[in-house]
Amino acid sequence: MLNRRHALQITAAAGAAALLPWDRLTGSSAPAATTTAAAAEAAPISPFAHAMPVPKVLAPVSSTKTSQLYELRMREAQVEIVKGLTSRVRTYGGTFPGPTIKASQGREVVVRQINELSVNTAVHLHGGHVRSEHDGLPMDTIVPGAERTYRYPNDQPAASLWYHDHAHHLEAENVYLGLHGLYLLSDRNERSLPLPTGAHDVPLVIRDARVEADGTLLYTRPSDCPHMLVNGKERPYFKVAARKYRLRIYNACANRYFKLRFADGAAFTQIGTDGGLLEQPVTRTELLMLGGERADIVVDFSRYREGSSIVLENTGALSTERPEVMRFDVGRATADHSYVPRRLASAPPVLPRRTVQRDFEIRTFPAMTINGLSYDPERVDVTARLGATEEWTIRNVDVPAAPGSPDFHLWHSFHTHLTFFRVLERNGQRPGIRDAGLKDTVTLGPGETVKIAMTWGPFTGEYVYHCHQLGHSSGGQMGRIDVVG
Ligand code: C2O
Ligand code: CU
Repeated sequence: MLNRRHALQITAAAGAAALLPWDRLTGSSAPAATTTAAAAEAAPISPFAHAMPVPKVLAPVSSTKTSQLYELRMREAQVEIVKGLTSRVRTYGGTFPGPTIKASQGREVVVRQINELSVNTAVHLHGGHVRSEHDGLPMDTIVPGAERTYRYPNDQPAASLWYHDHAHHLEAENVYLGLHGLYLLSDRNERSLPLPTGAHDVPLVIRDARVEADGTLLYTRPSDCPHMLVNGKERPYFKVAARKYRLRIYNACANRYFKLRFADGAAFTQIGTDGGLLEQPVTRTELLMLGGERADIVVDFSRYREGSSIVLENTGALSTERPEVMRFDVGRATADHSYVPRRLASAPPVLPRRTVQRDFEIRTFPAMTINGLSYDPERVDVTARLGATEEWTIRNVDVPAAPGSPDFHLWHSFHTHLTFFRVLERNGQRPGIRDAGLKDTVTLGPGETVKIAMTWGPFTGEYVYHCHQLGHSSGGQMGRIDVVG
C-alpha cells in the first residue's frame, strides 16, 4: 500500500529533500513524491451539490469540574466528499474532518488517542499552550496499534484552536487525508459577550483537495487540487436565517493560501484571530489566509432578502479553477439579539523589553529550509530562556516566478508552538489589520519580511517552529527550539 511504501521510503531516505523532489521547471509549482504516479482525472466539479455539515461535537467519556476525558480512534473511513463518490480518508473518530472538542478555560482536557491507522501519527493542539510531552512533537509519534494520552491545561483565553497530525515527514499527507479537527476553547469573558452563539456560531474548515474520478483523495501539489472543501464537502451550500452569524474560518490547506470575499464585495466584521478575540472588532471585505491561520468573523445576513443566495469566493484561486468556495442561502428573518460589542477582550499585555533578536531566512527553492538547514530533531536551533521576550525577523527569500504561474510554494506561513506572538512590522511598515491581535501563524508572501515578538513560556522543554504550508514543514522547513529555565 501507498502508506506503507511511503513510510519505508522515509526510513530509507537520508533527508527530506530526497523524499520530496520539488520541481522548479513548472515555475513555482512543487509536486510531492506521491504525484509521480501519473494522476488520473479529477472528478468533475458541480458546486453546491451538498448541504454543508457542521462537525459534530465530541462527547467526553467522563468529566469532572476540573477535567474532561475524551477518546478518539484514528482510523480509515469512507466518506462522500464529492457528490456520488466514495473516498477513503484518515480520520479521528471516523468523521472527516474530526469531531470538535469544546473546552473551557480552567478545565483540563485529556484526550486518549488510539492509532488504528497503518502510519505513524502525532497529535498537536495548534495554538494550545501545553507541556512539551503533550505537544505532539514530530518524533514523539504514536506507532500503528499504539495509543497515547495528551493533556491540555486550557490555561489561556478563548480561541479557535485545532488539533492535527504532526508526525515527522508525514504531517502534510496525514492532515490532507483527514487528520484534523477543531478545538474551540471558550472563557468567561467570551460567554458574557452578546455574540451569536449555538447554531449561529459555525466553523468553516476550508481546504483544497484533489478527488479523482474514482473517488480517490490524492495528496498532490496544490495547483492540481481543483476541489475546495468546507467541513469536508466539496463547495457546499449552507442555509442561514436572515440574521447575524459568527463564522470561524480555518485555512486547513496543506499547501495553499486563499483570499476570501463575498461575491458582492459585502463587508463583514472580524472579531478574532489565531490567539482569540481581538480587543476591538474591525470591518473587512477580504481575508488573506495561509495554512494554519484562523479568522473569526460576524456576518449579518439580514441585509439579504429571503430566498437570495450569496457566494463566498476565493480570489486567490488559479485562473484555471473555480473561485466559488461555498454558498449561503438566506432564509427567513428571525429574532436576533446578538450584536458585536465595541470591546471584545482586554488588550494584550504590553510587551516587555526584547532581550534577544534572531533572524530567520525561509525558503523552498532549492530546498525547504530555515536558515539553510532542514529540520533535524537532534539539533537545537534556538535556545530561549523561559519568560524572555524575543524579537524574530523572518524573511521569505523565495522570489516571484513568471507572472501568472502558480505561486503557492513561494508563500510561507510561519508558525510557533507554545506561545502566541505579535506582529511588529511587515516589510518595514506597521502591520495592518490582518496581522492584528495575538497570532501563532503569520503569512509571508514572496520576498516579504515580518518582525514578530513573543515571550517564551509558560513551560520549558522542546518545541518547534515551522512553516505551516505543511508540504514545506514535512520537507524540512522546521526548527527546534528548547525553552530552558
Ligand atoms: Cu498547526 Cu506545528 O502546527
Ligand atoms: Cu513554507
